[in-house]
Amino acid sequence: MIHTELRGVHAGYGREDVLKGVDAHIPQGVITALVGANGAGKSTLLAVLAGTLKPRGGEIVRASRAGPAFVVQRSAVPDTLPLTVRDAVAMGRWAHRGPWRPLDRRDHAIVDRALDRVGIVDLSGRQLGEVSGGQRQRALIAQGLAQEADLLLLDEPSAGLDRQAREHIARVIAELRGETTIVHATHFPDESAGADHLLTLDEGRVVESVPNAHRGR
Ligand SMILES: Nc1ncnc2c1ncn2[C@@H]1O[C@H](COP(=O)(O)OP(=O)(O)OP(=O)(O)O)[C@@H](O)[C@H]1O
Ligand SMILES: [Mg+2]
Repeated sequence: MIHTELRGVHAGYGREDVLKGVDAHIPQGVITALVGANGAGKSTLLAVLAGTLKPRGGEIVRASRAGPAFVVQRSAVPDTLPLTVRDAVAMGRWAHRGPWRPLDRRDHAIVDRALDRVGIVDLSGRQLGEVSGGQRQRALIAQGLAQEADLLLLDEPSAGLDRQAREHIARVIAELRGETTIVHATHFPDESAGADHLLTLDEGRVVESVPNAHRGR
């Protein structure tokens, strides 16, 4: 089953296209690793998949109309949001609730589970701006999990994390296999090796889209 198919997608910011005719498919319910050099267009492709960047050309065919969850690259998030860690994760429920509707018990349970999954329950009450970079990154991953979206887009979620935290996040991602469709941009070879499908970008084009040969070893 295919979750999303991209056909000849062009997208960019200024005059020039960053994505120069991307043909790719995202298989349903498994993990796709998105790899490529700095500037290859990984974050741009994720933004197109998230719907935050409108393509200039080509076609995107989605199997579902449900909104995706997008955990943006670390540098893209301001450090000074006046929120606790738990508030930030709870924002992940807004897509279901609307921002001005109070969360119900089920929402709170989902938020607690997301905090627990990434191992930051003890940081719940801390200000997001006061925790370390790696801890904040885990909070943002938990926010993505709390959305229970049918497409989870992760942009280098473990960049800047220590080895233990990175392994923890890798386990969380592996556990989500089958629960949701994941696209995971990463520079870590061990992370892309653990994925089911590999999408390689080079200068705005897909140079490889293959079932991952490393799986099942
Ligand atoms: N908001 C923006 N405005 C203008 N140009 C941008 C913007 N975001 C990215 N670009 C440009 O688009 C190109 C692709 O960037 P993108 O962030 O998609 O690469 P990436 O593969 O995610 O790289 P990295 O591994 O460094 O995260 C780069 O040349 C970059 O300078
Ligand atoms: Mg990027």
